[in-house]
Amino acid sequence: MATTTAELVDDLAVKTPNNLDALLMPFTANRQFKENPRLLVSAEGMHYRSVDGREILDGTAGLWCVNAGHGRREIVEAVQHQAARMDYSPSFQMAHPLQFELAARLTAILPGDLDHAFFTNSGSESVDTALKIALAYHQANGEPGRTRFVGRERGYHGVGFGGISVGGTGNNRKQFRNQLPEVDHLPHTHSLEHNAFSRGQPEWGAHLADSLNSLIQLHGAESIAAVIVEPMAASTGVLIPPMGYLRRLRDLCDEHGILLIFDEVITGFGRLGASFACELFDVVPDLVTMAKGLTNAAVPMGAVGLRKKIHDTLMHGPEYMIELFHGYTYSGHPLACAAGLAALDVYRHDELFDRAAELAPYWEDAVHSLRDKRNVIDLRNLGMVAGIELEPRPGKPTTRAYDAFVRCFEEGLLVRTTGDIIALSPPLIVERSHIDRMFGIIGESLDQVA
Ligand SMILES: Cc1ncc(COP(=O)(O)O)c(C=O)c1O
Repeated sequence: MATTTAELVDDLAVKTPNNLDALLMPFTANRQFKENPRLLVSAEGMHYRSVDGREILDGTAGLWCVNAGHGRREIVEAVQHQAARMDYSPSFQMAHPLQFELAARLTAILPGDLDHAFFTNSGSESVDTALKIALAYHQANGEPGRTRFVGRERGYHGVGFGGISVGGTGNNRKQFRNQLPEVDHLPHTHSLEHNAFSRGQPEWGAHLADSLNSLIQLHGAESIAAVIVEPMAASTGVLIPPMGYLRRLRDLCDEHGILLIFDEVITGFGRLGASFACELFDVVPDLVTMAKGLTNAAVPMGAVGLRKKIHDTLMHGPEYMIELFHGYTYSGHPLACAAGLAALDVYRHDELFDRAAELAPYWEDAVHSLRDKRNVIDLRNLGMVAGIELEPRPGKPTTRAYDAFVRCFEEGLLVRTTGDIIALSPPLIVERSHIDRMFGIIGESLDQVA
């Protein structure tokens, strides 16, 4: 019987808790899960260990977040050190030095004049923060009538009310009908008809950005505050942006004084083989949201990057006035900052963003080696991300991919599914041998799932 929390942690690393009832799990089929729980208890490098002692290859970097691999000593030590020095300091009208250091180092790796940062605790908070900053900016800039937002179908921007409103994921909205008013959506860019089995960016689809023109005609540009998109929509099934699409959105926004927000919660920190997608595509947004890889997921943290003009416009009015009436108890939490600083060091020291770019062609070939597997109707890839789209079972959408997911897990591989799409995004320390194993297991699972 454990007497300390540490002993309890060790006890529970080898046995399933007796009672799984009390917890309502997020985005999970609770009753199905509790019948056959999948519990992870430790992690190192490319692998998790399950409660029954099996090694599980991490094909998803946790939830798209452990970009430098698990249990990085540098990050663990930084967090331990900071926890012993100062657990917490208030975030309003007070600060601690690590916040400033992290903001400086983070903005140094953001492109263009994205040279200010605001800290949050998650991607969802980053999104809601960015939307609020967009509104506050227009108000300070003498255009308070710009209050509308434009998101995109099949967008995922977290689970706050702002995020689900601009998000384009039906299931995430319909249980909670009361959303932000004045939101429109661009069409998504996914087309099996035109782009199936594309390698990297598909050629067809840049014109879909022009739908913004219709919304501008309908509502008037002077009513639109911002457009928010993921440069590559990940959570809703790995939807790769067509060539030229993001540039076209940028140009339209510039032409009409509309802010462009890139949600880089997943695409940031090397995932696509560059520091950020905006660097890769050479399109600088006005605001950029981040989270996940910011701390290598060791401590929850998010951030919003702001271009100079946004920040400077907010700095108006008397100096004793609070410029932005927004923030969180844990904005820039000391442990998160320590983890963030250590994570950025690891990324730089191990040159992980370059490593992702170098591995991407090998990854691409591995992804497309599944072309003849049964039920595969599309394969797509960008950087160190892949989507494997399966033909849904008639009348039973999602079940085929779910069965493949369970099979992979039983065979020692963690993948992720959305609908009937399997998504992959391994830690960027992945070796070629891991990639071979990953696609070997997936191939066998697809052979076996009817
Ligand atoms: C693009 C994007 N934005 C926002 C979020 C929400 O992040 P969080 O779950 O940390 O709130 C996610 C999560 O996957 C995401 O992919």
